[in-house]
Amino acid sequence: KEEVNQKLFEKLDKDNVIENSREWLASVNPSWDHNDAVGVLKSWESIDTLVLEFVDSIANVLTAAGEEAVKNGSPESKLYHGIPEEGLSMAEANAKFGPTALGPAKSKGWVEVVAGKLKKKVDTIVDTTQQQLSGDLNAIPAKELLNFKKSRFVEEKKLNYCKVSKGPKYNIRKKELSDITVEMLKDDSWAQENFKFNVNSLGLVPESGYRHPLSKVKAEFKQIFLDMGFEEMPTFNFVENGFWNFDALFQPQQHPARESHDTFFLKSPATSHDFTEEYLDKVKTVHSVGGYGSLGWIYDWKLEEAEKNILRTHTTAVSARMLYKLAQTGFKPKKYFSIDRVFRNETLDATHLAEFHQVEGLVIDNDISLSNLIGVISEFFRRLGIDNIRFKPAFNPYTEPSMEIFGYHPMLKKWVELGNSGIFRPEMCLPMGLPEGARVAAWGLSLERPTMIKYGLDNIRAIFGNSINVNFIKNNPICMFPTETK
Ligand code: PHE
Repeated sequence: KEEVNQKLFEKLDKDNVIENSREWLASVNPSWDHNDAVGVLKSWESIDTLVLEFVDSIANVLTAAGEEAVKNGSPESKLYHGIPEEGLSMAEANAKFGPTALGPAKSKGWVEVVAGKLKKKVDTIVDTTQQQLSGDLNAIPAKELLNFKKSRFVEEKKLNYCKVSKGPKYNIRKKELSDITVEMLKDDSWAQENFKFNVNSLGLVPESGYRHPLSKVKAEFKQIFLDMGFEEMPTFNFVENGFWNFDALFQPQQHPARESHDTFFLKSPATSHDFTEEYLDKVKTVHSVGGYGSLGWIYDWKLEEAEKNILRTHTTAVSARMLYKLAQTGFKPKKYFSIDRVFRNETLDATHLAEFHQVEGLVIDNDISLSNLIGVISEFFRRLGIDNIRFKPAFNPYTEPSMEIFGYHPMLKKWVELGNSGIFRPEMCLPMGLPEGARVAAWGLSLERPTMIKYGLDNIRAIFGNSINVNFIKNNPICMFPTETK
């Protein structure tokens, strides 16, 4: 088999094609069986190394009688040589040499009948039948060949052969493997192998376990914060009380956000009290009579309002808890972030839902200024691939100064609001026990808006809630914001 392969590729390398496998095989080694060789050829064909084209052909071959004539002479020559000096009776001749010998011997003028006995007519003969049958049968003139067929020395036999040419994978010429090994994966040699299976197939898409687009964007944002040295805040509590959500942030109790048409209140448990009396007193004082150089809001601050349980309206409630803890455990410069769910009692429409996700970031350090705030926010958005941002003065109960952040949307070709920011007011930071010089630059934005922009959606209900299309979740690519500016 190895030898067949060697000769085979030698020939094809040289001539590109083998017109007739039978003839080629006979010329290389007549002892090889054609069927065996075809088996080898077919295995190469199955892996596209070779292309085979089978051809049916008729070949002239010797019959057993033909073979005998080649070996020991034609029947007529046997008859001639078998006639003794005194001659042979016709009966004896027929019995010994058969009925086919006499006719040709007579017609060739080798024998004659004298007085009822068969006698030699010539001294020597040339057995042309034997000569012709010994040579190339295809070279025998048609008329004589037909006679050989009639006298059953030659017969026609169906013989197929194939035309062999190079296949599309001729140069790979490798056997198909049924296993891919660790070694092949390690040294990348699998790429040079042939496999019984398709290694280029993408495979079946799993039927479950898709990451939601919001979760993909969240992972991207989280990475940016982590890259910038931020620590994640624990945002696992959806339920807050008014104290941490509003009062600690110096948001007055008459503020419209604290009405039931803006905020969800809990029926059970309706209240909670997880703040110290000392801190409560300070917050109460700064709201009702002022302090730290501030006049406060000047109103009758009520503990009942602070104790009301609500679904948190922003993750800034968690920022407040974290800053209070930092003040109590000893102030250090910190960078915090969170990305989690918040709840607002909104009228639902294409851009508003009752629950959404907020991205929150804050930096606390000594002598933080507005330019630090602009710098850190610009860097954050730069890492999201948004270079072109603008700040607009705004109002926020717990920040001063406050700035809305706008980004230029190249697809929409307009400035869109990205979020809100500011420096937390002293009325918020000082009652917590943070040192005078410590400043907090903070900002917040929705997770949904950049996700909608990223995935080209104009309706928030397409990414959140019960009307989302499952195929949308399945088919969308992972989220990648450029991490380098152009
Ligand atoms: N909490 C604000 C909001 O709900 C966002 C914000 C966070 C603003 C921090 C300023 C500072 O939109």
